[in-house]
Amino acid sequence: MPKVRKAVIPVAGFGTRFLPATKSTPKEMMPLIDKPIIHYIVEEAVNSGIETIIFVTGRHKRAIEDYFDYYPELEQVLKKSGKEEEIEKLRQISNMAEFVYIRQKEQLGLGHAVLTAERLVGDEPFAVLLGDEVIKNKDYPGIRQLIDVYYQFGKSVIGTMEVPREDVSKYGIVAGKEVVDGIKLVEKLVEKPPVEEAPSTSAIIGRYVLTPDIFEALKKTPLGKGGELQLTDGLALLRNKEVIYSKDVEGLRHDTGNKIGYLKAILDFALEREDVREEFIKILMEKCKEIEKG
Ligand code: UTP
Repeated sequence: MPKVRKAVIPVAGFGTRFLPATKSTPKEMMPLIDKPIIHYIVEEAVNSGIETIIFVTGRHKRAIEDYFDYYPELEQVLKKSGKEEEIEKLRQISNMAEFVYIRQKEQLGLGHAVLTAERLVGDEPFAVLLGDEVIKNKDYPGIRQLIDVYYQFGKSVIGTMEVPREDVSKYGIVAGKEVVDGIKLVEKLVEKPPVEEAPSTSAIIGRYVLTPDIFEALKKTPLGKGGELQLTDGLALLRNKEVIYSKDVEGLRHDTGNKIGYLKAILDFALEREDVREEFIKILMEKCKEIEKG
Protein backbone atom coordinates (compact mmCIF):
# COMPACT_ATOMS: atom_id res chain seq x y z
CA MET A 1 0.00 0.00 0.00
CA PRO A 2 1.37 3.49 -0.84
CA LYS A 3 2.67 5.48 2.13
CA VAL A 4 0.89 8.58 3.39
CA ARG A 5 3.74 11.09 3.03
CA LYS A 6 2.01 14.38 2.33
CA ALA A 7 -0.40 16.52 4.30
CA VAL A 8 -2.53 19.32 2.92
CA ILE A 9 -3.26 22.10 5.41
CA PRO A 10 -5.81 24.59 4.06
CA VAL A 11 -5.23 28.03 5.57
CA ALA A 12 -6.73 30.28 2.92
CA GLY A 13 -9.96 31.19 4.74
CA PHE A 14 -10.67 34.75 5.79
CA GLY A 15 -11.24 33.95 9.46
CA THR A 16 -14.11 36.43 9.67
CA ARG A 17 -15.02 35.29 13.19
CA PHE A 18 -11.77 36.84 14.39
CA LEU A 19 -12.00 40.21 12.72
CA PRO A 20 -10.43 42.72 13.09
CA ALA A 21 -7.37 40.64 14.19
CA THR A 22 -7.54 38.58 10.99
CA LYS A 23 -7.51 41.66 8.78
CA SER A 24 -3.73 41.36 8.74
CA THR A 25 -2.87 38.31 10.90
CA PRO A 26 -3.81 34.79 9.82
CA LYS A 27 -5.93 33.12 12.51
CA GLU A 28 -3.63 30.10 12.24
CA MET A 29 -0.79 32.30 13.52
CA MET A 30 -2.57 33.33 16.71
CA PRO A 31 -0.57 31.99 19.65
CA LEU A 32 -1.44 29.42 22.25
CA ILE A 33 0.90 30.95 24.85
CA ASP A 34 4.02 31.40 22.68
CA LYS A 35 3.56 28.97 19.80
CA PRO A 36 1.16 29.70 16.93
CA ILE A 37 -1.74 27.30 16.46
CA ILE A 38 -0.36 26.15 13.12
CA HIS A 39 2.86 24.97 14.80
CA TYR A 40 0.91 22.42 16.87
CA ILE A 41 -0.87 21.17 13.77
CA VAL A 42 2.36 20.75 11.79
CA GLU A 43 3.86 18.93 14.80
CA GLU A 44 0.93 16.52 14.83
CA ALA A 45 1.47 15.78 11.14
CA VAL A 46 5.23 15.35 11.49
CA ASN A 47 4.84 13.13 14.57
CA SER A 48 2.51 11.00 12.44
CA GLY A 49 5.16 10.36 9.78
CA ILE A 50 4.27 13.12 7.30
CA GLU A 51 7.27 14.40 5.32
CA THR A 52 5.79 17.14 3.13
CA ILE A 53 3.36 19.83 4.25
CA ILE A 54 1.35 21.50 1.49
CA PHE A 55 -0.16 24.76 2.68
CA VAL A 56 -3.08 26.06 0.65
CA THR A 57 -2.73 29.76 1.34
CA GLY A 58 -4.22 33.04 0.30
CA ARG A 59 -3.64 36.77 0.58
CA HIS A 60 -2.46 37.95 4.04
CA LYS A 61 -0.95 34.56 4.82
CA ARG A 62 2.70 35.46 4.27
CA ALA A 63 3.29 35.24 8.01
CA ILE A 64 2.87 31.45 7.79
CA GLU A 65 5.56 31.15 5.10
CA ASP A 66 7.91 33.31 7.14
CA TYR A 67 7.26 31.28 10.28
CA PHE A 68 8.42 28.04 8.67
CA ASP A 69 11.48 29.64 7.06
CA TYR A 70 14.95 30.47 8.42
CA TYR A 71 15.40 34.00 9.76
CA PRO A 72 19.13 34.84 9.35
CA GLU A 73 18.84 38.45 10.58
CA LEU A 74 17.24 37.34 13.84
CA GLU A 75 19.81 34.56 14.18
CA GLN A 76 22.58 37.16 13.95
CA VAL A 77 21.03 39.15 16.79
CA LEU A 78 20.60 36.04 18.95
CA LYS A 79 24.17 34.95 18.20
CA LYS A 80 25.53 38.28 19.45
CA SER A 81 23.78 37.73 22.77
CA GLY A 82 24.97 34.12 22.97
CA LYS A 83 21.53 32.57 22.55
CA GLU A 84 22.71 29.57 20.55
CA GLU A 85 20.01 27.31 21.98
CA GLU A 86 17.31 29.72 20.83
CA ILE A 87 18.78 29.74 17.31
CA GLU A 88 18.69 25.94 17.22
CA LYS A 89 15.05 25.94 18.39
CA LEU A 90 14.07 28.37 15.65
CA ARG A 91 15.90 26.38 12.99
CA GLN A 92 14.17 23.19 14.08
CA ILE A 93 10.83 24.75 13.15
CA SER A 94 11.95 25.08 9.53
CA ASN A 95 13.55 21.64 9.51
CA MET A 96 10.47 19.76 10.73
CA ALA A 97 9.34 18.94 7.19
CA GLU A 98 9.45 20.07 3.59
CA PHE A 99 7.05 23.00 3.23
CA VAL A 100 5.28 23.74 -0.04
CA TYR A 101 2.82 26.57 -0.71
CA ILE A 102 0.08 27.04 -3.23
CA ARG A 103 -2.37 29.91 -3.46
CA GLN A 104 -6.10 29.37 -3.56
CA LYS A 105 -6.97 32.31 -5.77
CA GLU A 106 -10.59 32.53 -4.64
CA GLN A 107 -11.94 31.30 -1.30
CA LEU A 108 -14.53 28.94 -2.74
CA GLY A 109 -14.64 26.54 0.21
CA LEU A 110 -12.74 23.71 1.87
CA GLY A 111 -13.38 21.28 -1.01
CA HIS A 112 -11.99 23.82 -3.44
CA ALA A 113 -8.94 24.37 -1.19
CA VAL A 114 -8.21 20.62 -1.25
CA LEU A 115 -8.69 20.51 -5.03
CA THR A 116 -6.18 23.36 -5.37
CA ALA A 117 -3.50 21.00 -4.01
CA GLU A 118 -4.18 18.28 -6.62
CA ARG A 119 -1.02 18.70 -8.71
CA LEU A 120 1.22 18.89 -5.64
CA VAL A 121 -0.34 15.79 -4.07
CA GLY A 122 -0.19 13.72 -7.26
CA ASP A 123 -1.45 10.16 -7.40
CA GLU A 124 -1.03 9.11 -3.78
CA PRO A 125 -3.04 9.06 -0.55
CA PHE A 126 -2.67 12.17 1.58
CA ALA A 127 -3.70 13.64 4.90
CA VAL A 128 -5.77 16.79 5.40
CA LEU A 129 -5.54 18.78 8.64
CA LEU A 130 -7.56 21.94 9.14
CA GLY A 131 -5.43 24.87 10.16
CA ASP A 132 -7.65 25.95 13.03
CA GLU A 133 -8.26 22.71 14.92
CA VAL A 134 -5.81 21.39 17.46
CA ILE A 135 -6.07 17.78 18.61
CA LYS A 136 -4.16 16.90 21.73
CA ASN A 137 -2.92 13.36 22.05
CA LYS A 138 0.78 13.07 22.83
CA ASP A 139 0.94 9.28 22.63
CA TYR A 140 -1.09 8.74 19.49
CA PRO A 141 -1.46 11.86 17.29
CA GLY A 142 -4.92 12.38 15.78
CA ILE A 143 -3.92 12.13 12.13
CA ARG A 144 -1.74 9.06 12.84
CA GLN A 145 -4.87 7.30 14.11
CA LEU A 146 -6.49 7.87 10.70
CA ILE A 147 -3.35 6.94 8.77
CA ASP A 148 -3.35 3.59 10.59
CA VAL A 149 -6.96 2.98 9.55
CA TYR A 150 -5.96 3.83 5.97
CA TYR A 151 -3.18 1.20 6.17
CA GLN A 152 -5.71 -1.31 7.43
CA PHE A 153 -8.34 -0.79 4.69
CA GLY A 154 -6.64 1.19 1.88
CA LYS A 155 -9.58 3.62 1.60
CA SER A 156 -10.34 7.21 2.59
CA VAL A 157 -10.85 7.81 6.32
CA ILE A 158 -12.73 10.68 7.94
CA GLY A 159 -11.96 11.74 11.51
CA THR A 160 -15.05 12.07 13.70
CA MET A 161 -16.11 12.87 17.24
CA GLU A 162 -19.48 12.60 18.98
CA VAL A 163 -21.16 15.98 19.56
CA PRO A 164 -24.32 16.99 21.47
CA ARG A 165 -27.40 16.75 19.23
CA GLU A 166 -28.02 20.51 19.43
CA ASP A 167 -24.60 21.12 17.80
CA VAL A 168 -25.00 18.93 14.70
CA SER A 169 -25.86 21.90 12.46
CA LYS A 170 -22.32 23.27 12.95
CA TYR A 171 -20.63 20.19 11.46
CA GLY A 172 -20.54 17.74 8.62
CA ILE A 173 -22.30 14.65 9.97
CA VAL A 174 -21.64 11.02 9.03
CA ALA A 175 -23.59 7.87 9.74
CA GLY A 176 -22.64 4.28 9.08
CA LYS A 177 -22.18 0.74 10.27
CA GLU A 178 -19.53 0.07 12.90
CA VAL A 179 -17.01 -2.48 11.58
CA VAL A 180 -14.47 -2.36 14.40
CA ASP A 181 -14.49 -0.44 17.67
CA GLY A 182 -14.84 3.26 16.73
CA ILE A 183 -14.44 2.60 12.98
CA LYS A 184 -17.49 2.85 10.72
CA LEU A 185 -18.20 2.10 7.11
CA VAL A 186 -19.74 5.40 6.04
CA GLU A 187 -23.27 5.25 4.63
CA LYS A 188 -24.37 8.89 4.80
CA LEU A 189 -22.64 12.26 4.79
CA VAL A 190 -24.42 15.59 5.23
CA GLU A 191 -22.92 19.06 5.61
CA LYS A 192 -24.39 21.06 8.53
CA PRO A 193 -27.84 19.41 8.66
CA PRO A 194 -30.69 20.87 10.72
CA VAL A 195 -31.09 18.92 14.00
CA GLU A 196 -34.19 17.06 12.79
CA GLU A 197 -32.44 15.87 9.60
CA ALA A 198 -29.13 14.76 11.13
CA PRO A 199 -28.57 11.03 10.55
CA SER A 200 -26.40 10.78 13.70
CA THR A 201 -24.35 12.84 16.14
CA SER A 202 -21.03 11.75 14.66
CA ALA A 203 -19.36 15.01 13.57
CA ILE A 204 -16.56 15.39 11.04
CA ILE A 205 -13.58 17.06 12.68
CA GLY A 206 -10.76 18.65 10.73
CA ARG A 207 -8.79 15.49 10.01
CA TYR A 208 -8.94 13.24 6.95
CA VAL A 209 -6.84 10.73 5.02
CA LEU A 210 -7.97 10.72 1.40
CA THR A 211 -7.26 8.67 -1.68
CA PRO A 212 -6.41 10.74 -4.79
CA ASP A 213 -9.82 9.74 -6.24
CA ILE A 214 -11.25 12.60 -4.17
CA PHE A 215 -10.00 15.06 -6.81
CA GLU A 216 -12.21 13.67 -9.60
CA ALA A 217 -15.15 13.61 -7.18
CA LEU A 218 -14.56 17.24 -6.18
CA LYS A 219 -14.45 18.31 -9.83
CA LYS A 220 -17.95 16.87 -10.26
CA THR A 221 -19.33 18.26 -6.98
CA PRO A 222 -21.82 21.12 -7.30
CA LEU A 223 -21.51 24.11 -4.97
CA GLY A 224 -23.25 23.40 -1.67
CA LYS A 225 -24.00 25.15 1.65
CA GLY A 226 -23.00 28.82 1.59
CA GLY A 227 -22.33 28.64 -2.16
CA GLU A 228 -19.03 26.86 -1.36
CA LEU A 229 -17.47 23.70 -2.74
CA GLN A 230 -17.84 21.52 0.34
CA LEU A 231 -15.42 18.70 1.05
CA THR A 232 -18.27 16.76 2.70
CA ASP A 233 -20.25 16.88 -0.58
CA GLY A 234 -17.17 15.71 -2.49
CA LEU A 235 -16.81 12.80 -0.09
CA ALA A 236 -20.49 11.92 -0.50
CA LEU A 237 -19.88 11.68 -4.26
CA LEU A 238 -16.68 9.66 -3.78
CA ARG A 239 -18.66 7.22 -1.64
CA ASN A 240 -20.74 6.27 -4.68
CA LYS A 241 -17.54 4.96 -6.25
CA GLU A 242 -15.56 3.52 -3.36
CA VAL A 243 -16.09 2.79 0.32
CA ILE A 244 -15.10 5.36 2.92
CA TYR A 245 -14.42 4.77 6.60
CA SER A 246 -14.79 7.05 9.59
CA LYS A 247 -12.86 6.79 12.82
CA ASP A 248 -13.59 8.34 16.19
CA VAL A 249 -10.43 10.26 16.96
CA GLU A 250 -9.11 9.90 20.50
CA GLY A 251 -7.85 13.10 22.08
CA LEU A 252 -8.93 16.53 23.21
CA ARG A 253 -10.10 18.70 20.32
CA HIS A 254 -9.83 22.47 20.37
CA ASP A 255 -11.66 24.42 17.69
CA THR A 256 -9.56 27.56 17.75
CA GLY A 257 -11.47 29.14 14.85
CA ASN A 258 -14.09 30.57 17.22
CA LYS A 259 -13.56 32.85 20.21
CA ILE A 260 -14.69 30.53 23.00
CA GLY A 261 -12.81 27.58 21.52
CA TYR A 262 -9.68 29.70 21.30
CA LEU A 263 -10.00 30.87 24.93
CA LYS A 264 -10.52 27.28 26.13
CA ALA A 265 -7.42 26.20 24.25
CA ILE A 266 -5.31 28.94 25.84
CA LEU A 267 -6.59 27.96 29.29
CA ASP A 268 -5.80 24.31 28.68
CA PHE A 269 -2.30 24.93 27.31
CA ALA A 270 -1.43 27.46 30.03
CA LEU A 271 -2.39 24.98 32.76
CA GLU A 272 0.04 22.48 31.26
CA ARG A 273 2.99 24.80 31.05
CA GLU A 274 5.44 24.52 33.92
CA ASP A 275 6.70 28.09 33.42
CA VAL A 276 3.31 29.80 33.74
CA ARG A 277 1.03 27.28 35.46
CA GLU A 278 1.42 28.29 39.07
CA GLU A 279 1.06 32.03 38.59
CA PHE A 280 -1.74 31.56 36.10
CA ILE A 281 -3.77 29.43 38.55
CA LYS A 282 -3.37 32.17 41.19
CA ILE A 283 -4.71 34.75 38.75
CA LEU A 284 -7.59 32.49 37.78
CA MET A 285 -8.57 31.84 41.41
CA GLU A 286 -8.53 35.56 42.18
CA LYS A 287 -10.65 36.28 39.13
CA CYS A 288 -13.13 33.55 40.10
CA LYS A 289 -13.44 35.05 43.60
CA GLU A 290 -14.05 38.49 42.08
CA ILE A 291 -16.71 37.06 39.78
CA GLU A 292 -18.43 35.25 42.67
CA LYS A 293 -18.56 38.46 44.70
CA GLY A 294 -20.22 40.09 41.67
P1 UTP B 1 -13.55 27.89 8.13
O1 UTP B 1 -14.83 28.16 7.48
O2 UTP B 1 -13.54 27.47 9.55
O3 UTP B 1 -12.53 29.11 8.05
O4 UTP B 1 -12.74 26.85 7.24
P2 UTP B 1 -12.64 30.60 7.65
O5 UTP B 1 -13.50 30.80 6.47
O6 UTP B 1 -11.24 31.06 7.58
O7 UTP B 1 -13.24 31.25 9.00
P3 UTP B 1 -14.56 32.09 9.29
O8 UTP B 1 -15.66 31.07 9.27
O9 UTP B 1 -14.67 33.15 8.25
O10 UTP B 1 -14.29 32.65 10.66
C1 UTP B 1 -12.00 25.77 7.78
C2 UTP B 1 -10.59 25.73 7.25
O11 UTP B 1 -10.57 25.71 5.82
C3 UTP B 1 -9.78 26.76 5.30
C4 UTP B 1 -9.70 27.80 6.41
O12 UTP B 1 -8.48 28.53 6.32
C5 UTP B 1 -9.77 26.96 7.67
O13 UTP B 1 -8.49 26.49 8.09
N1 UTP B 1 -10.43 27.27 4.07
C6 UTP B 1 -11.76 27.53 4.06
C7 UTP B 1 -9.66 27.46 2.94
O14 UTP B 1 -8.44 27.22 2.93
N2 UTP B 1 -10.28 27.92 1.81
C8 UTP B 1 -11.60 28.22 1.76
O15 UTP B 1 -12.08 28.62 0.68
C9 UTP B 1 -12.36 28.01 2.91
